[in-house]
Amino acid sequence: MTPTPLGKDLLGLEELSADQIRLVLDTAEAFKEVSERPIKKVPALRGKTIVNLFFEASTRTRISFEFAEKRLSADTVNVATQGSSVAKGETLVDTARNLEAMRIDMVVIRHPASGAAKFLGERIRSNVINAGDGKHEHPTQGLLDLLTLRDRFGRIEGLKVAICGDVLHSRVARSNIWGLTKLGAEVAVCGPASLLPTGLDRLGVRVIRRIDEALQWADAVNILRLQLERMEGGFVPSLREYNRIFGVTRERLARAGREVVVMHPGPMNRGVEIDSDVADGPASVILPQVTNGVAVRMAVLYLLAGGSPDWATHPAEDR
Ligand code: CP
Repeated sequence: MTPTPLGKDLLGLEELSADQIRLVLDTAEAFKEVSERPIKKVPALRGKTIVNLFFEASTRTRISFEFAEKRLSADTVNVATQGSSVAKGETLVDTARNLEAMRIDMVVIRHPASGAAKFLGERIRSNVINAGDGKHEHPTQGLLDLLTLRDRFGRIEGLKVAICGDVLHSRVARSNIWGLTKLGAEVAVCGPASLLPTGLDRLGVRVIRRIDEALQWADAVNILRLQLERMEGGFVPSLREYNRIFGVTRERLARAGREVVVMHPGPMNRGVEIDSDVADGPASVILPQVTNGVAVRMAVLYLLAGGSPDWATHPAEDR
């Protein structure tokens, strides 16, 4: 297989250089326009077959990968645990090898186990894209968050971004930390001590204990969902208490004294980590994040399929 500008697989932003991240963002920028056309399709991946293997629930990531694939003219198949032989105990590798035997080109995988995408990528010839693996990484979410920040501020370098909430269980936090620090942003995390991982200082991330302080410090706040399904109890006293101490409310945002851009990867627990009038308020870029998700995933699919990086500079030509 010919090496692509991103390598064979996209497993995480930890593995990408700053230049590779910028290439994805520039390519995504050029692909945004395709989704605004009356006929939202270019032939870039015509003849390529892509399997979306989702072993965990997803709305945004699964649907936007599917839109991205269709807008690039790829042939796509969706496989979920229910309704496939995974429910009968078939292993991940056996599932993927059987799919490869049908001559597929790429696999997009979401899996509850950290490292599942890497495990698969080492065992099959097809390109593998990590759509979220356990608590490890969610690289396309990190990339779409970077693109949304770049749209809003015109730059990433020098920005102050506070990642607030359940950082411990968050693959989104990890991908954001790698991406933001590689592109020269300052990153802080804020949340209950029970929901912050150790070793953050080694990643160049500061810890801010109080949410009011984090909002005063930051240009943008990325608010993370309290991942109740990954907790075994005892991390927070109650959801009401969490909202009282760490919830991002309109009053708290107003106290920052200037606009703080509000991000959330979704799905949101309204009234827990974020109040509705913040989620739907003027500083929110939560829906533009979702829009950018399609362009970012088009860029990743296109580059991993061996597409020319020139797309970023010659977007008008349909390749
Ligand atoms: N942001 C995100 O990964 O959302 P989904 O779980 O709905 O895909």
